Amino acid sequence: MGISSPSPFVVAVDGPSGAGKSSTSRGVARALGLNYLDTGAMYRALTWWLVSCGADTADQARVAELATVPAIEVSTDPDDPWTRVDGRDVSADIRTTEVSAKVSEVARVPEVRRHLIAKQRAIIKAAAAGIVAEGRDIGTVVAPDAPLKVYLTADSGARAQRRAAEHGAAVDTTEADQARRDRLDAAQSAKAEDAVLIDATDLSLPAVTQMITALARERTQLACAGEKSR
Ligand code: DC
Repeated sequence: MGISSPSPFVVAVDGPSGAGKSSTSRGVARALGLNYLDTGAMYRALTWWLVSCGADTADQARVAELATVPAIEVSTDPDDPWTRVDGRDVSADIRTTEVSAKVSEVARVPEVRRHLIAKQRAIIKAAAAGIVAEGRDIGTVVAPDAPLKVYLTADSGARAQRRAAEHGAAVDTTEADQARRDRLDAAQSAKAEDAVLIDATDLSLPAVTQMITALARERTQLACAGEKSR
């Protein structure tokens, strides 16, 4: 099923790492025939490129200078998400512990955010069928007019367990790492006032996917009713 509306129908999914944003966002996109955008992958791609060039990611001025150099591309197909830098597929490289440890310091550089947010807005605008965009600031900054905003969270133990299982890592080190990233990402991770808060601590990911899909269907019907009454 595709949703057609005059401007792309945007579902903004924000929240901290490990809450299940990626799996649920992809599931919602599949269920509704929408595109999918993983904005975190774009920050990771830039971080991977900086690291592979030997740049010091803690040097904000240098990171700002280099922010627009690599060509970063992401797929918007929820069934085939990939990330490329200068034509090279880096989908696996951007998930390493080294990139995860350094991405927050790259993501907080204002020039980096300006550049990647402009790219994200262009991708969203081009998604004629609509798009599920996940990140930290989609509902507040990237797409503040999104008709559906979700803030997906879960308690820190549940998030660390999910992440540790995905990466085959120990829960305690994952939780410590996660707490550090939460702190560094806090400035750009606020919940939009009009976002629906979903706490996934005791919910399965399929249940969360169904909840968001149902909310999106509701909002599209409301949007269509608004069109008809014009
Ligand atoms: O969702 P993730 O773990 O792949 O995100 C990687 C990093 O990028 C994370 O530290 C926060 C940052 N990020 C951001 O600042 N803004 C976004 N819209 C998405 C991610």
